[in-house]
Amino acid sequence: MNDERTAARLRNALVERLRLGGSIRTEAVASAMSEVPREVFVPGGTSPARAYEDRVVVLSIDARGLPDSTVSQPAMIALMLEQLAVRPGMRVLEIGTGSGYNAALLAHLVGAAGEVVSVEVSAELAGAAARRLAGLGTRVDVRTGDGWAGVADRAPFDRIEATVGVPDLPPEWVEQLAPGGLLVAPMWLRPGLELAVAWERTEGAALTSVSVARCGFLQLRGPHAGPGRTHALTGDLAVIGEDLPPAALDVLRDLIDHGAVDAGPVLGPVDSRLTGFALAEPRSVLFLGHPGDGTTWGLFDPERPALAVLMRDRILVYGDRDAAVELYYGVAGAPVVDAERLRLEAVSAGTAFPPAPRPDGRSWTVERERYHYRLTEM
Ligand SMILES: C[S@@+](CC[C@H](N)C(=O)[O-])C[C@H]1O[C@@H](n2cnc3c(N)ncnc32)[C@H](O)[C@@H]1O
Repeated sequence: MNDERTAARLRNALVERLRLGGSIRTEAVASAMSEVPREVFVPGGTSPARAYEDRVVVLSIDARGLPDSTVSQPAMIALMLEQLAVRPGMRVLEIGTGSGYNAALLAHLVGAAGEVVSVEVSAELAGAAARRLAGLGTRVDVRTGDGWAGVADRAPFDRIEATVGVPDLPPEWVEQLAPGGLLVAPMWLRPGLELAVAWERTEGAALTSVSVARCGFLQLRGPHAGPGRTHALTGDLAVIGEDLPPAALDVLRDLIDHGAVDAGPVLGPVDSRLTGFALAEPRSVLFLGHPGDGTTWGLFDPERPALAVLMRDRILVYGDRDAAVELYYGVAGAPVVDAERLRLEAVSAGTAFPPAPRPDGRSWTVERERYHYRLTEM
């Protein structure tokens, strides 16, 4: 009883923090997050205090030592639920059940008259989530399978939410969306550029964004992980890049083995320019772990071969030294892009984009197998 009271107090405090921080904007989301007990969905042994920190909790780790399932960060969950705008009575599909926590929030939002279907690629996680949800008396149809295909036998859905990052959208999700429906997905567009996009079907473009927020999510598992996935290099070092076949990864390992030369200081703040750099430079890569602290941006050219990485205030270069100059000017000359002011459009690959929403605005395109995406600054 005491534990339950502690959890309720911590839960309400978290909801207040998320309201103040702007991630919770509606009473519907506040009420769902005040009532669904997050402590039930985190791994056993996690303290209630930890369960209600605004932090991600790891559920499982893959063979490479990287997390492959997490209970997402509460602020991110709230933000995406606000983007999703779920109303009572709706039919909702979630991709990436994980712990089942977000599915429980969705079930709260749709109420008794609505339906939630959630699909998880790991049978073990799906089973555990289904048991937790049943234990709370929460009605969610949990399926095991590759969520890329959606769940055709329960379509159409008023809302589809992916809680796992995707490099592209499967046409199946678009087909399974009811007229007027919304699809929210974390899109891996370039290394380090991940946007939670709320999409609606539109004339002209297949889909147009109605809201965009920065986010950070695990990547989709399975055959549709696409470009931009995380590759383990050596030890605790992993890299994300657009086009890194095994031969390019061997070149990268070799460059790193041979050591770096300090190419000098970086002048001025560059953080605000990294999004613009990643959008304009297909050779941009993002390292996780060493050689930088935390995450490190770089430019990798397997042909030269060369790698330049941006440390906190210096550039290190491996191989051809000109790469340092290219990285320096690439970042320094990149525009500051405010992700939340971007409008995204998706057209089926091979189809022309409609006239630009703002002809004098800067725009970039990202081409994937199923859809081509245009990002325009509004
Ligand atoms: C960030 S976690 C989701 C968090 C979850 N919604 C929660 O509330 O705990 C991402 C989940 O997506 C799952 N996943 C990855 N690839 C998938 C796929 N192709 N189909 C379905 N689920 C997938 C992972 O196993 C992981 O559990």
